[in-house]
Amino acid sequence: MTDDPLELDSAAWEPRALYFLLTGLVIPRPIAWVSTVSEDGVRNLAPHSYFNVVANDPPHVLFVSTGVKDTLRNVRATGEFVVNVVTLDLVEEMNATAADAPAGVDEFGWVGLDAAPSVTVTPARVARAKAHLECRVVHDLPIGNGNLVVGEVTHVHVDPSVWTDGRIDPQKLDPVGRLSGSSYATLGEVFTLDRPSWADIADADPADRIPRRAT
Ligand SMILES: Cc1cc2nc3c(=O)[nH]c(=O)nc-3n(C[C@H](O)[C@H](O)[C@H](O)COP(=O)(O)O)c2cc1C
Repeated sequence: MTDDPLELDSAAWEPRALYFLLTGLVIPRPIAWVSTVSEDGVRNLAPHSYFNVVANDPPHVLFVSTGVKDTLRNVRATGEFVVNVVTLDLVEEMNATAADAPAGVDEFGWVGLDAAPSVTVTPARVARAKAHLECRVVHDLPIGNGNLVVGEVTHVHVDPSVWTDGRIDPQKLDPVGRLSGSSYATLGEVFTLDRPSWADIADADPADRIPRRAT
């Protein structure tokens, strides 16, 4: 290694090296702990950090299965999944469900997690999770070695313990994000930054154009 900046032709790097590079740069990633059920009724749980919100009206989220795994097979068979939000108190159980368990293993039972019934979909929820998004699949799109699944959110559960004044309180939620490899992060400092409108800043002095953060 030299101290020169990395200038990368992505076609010249091994996929595994690119995986570590990209998952080291796109951080922290939220984690969808996806619960599904197979056609035979076997419950499955697996974390996915290629995950995000893509629309709010109507609400949609996506996750990506790298290759074809039990989660993707179940989603394709049933068209349904639940995203269980991963918080610090559940991070070890979440990680345990990343094991490459055979398809017939009920991962709720395997890690000793109670399930709660969902309202609009068949897959169960992780009872201890503080929030859940019940989803119906609307897109299933192969991209590279990934399979992008978009779900419309049909029902949301939020435990009152994570609310303050009608909004999610990030510190009460205490979410965990994934970094690269086996590293994770919790929330650091939380600060606010006023979003400017052009009308507010169009005539501002250069020194006042940039809203500064407040803690
Ligand atoms: C925090 C974390 C995030 C992960 N994110 C993904 C992901 O986004 N996509 C993926 O295919 N696998 C991801 N994995 C690996 C899967 O969870 C793992 O392959 C799991 O065994 C898949 O389970 P399944 O076969 O029951 O679907 C992740 C693992 C961990 C620990």
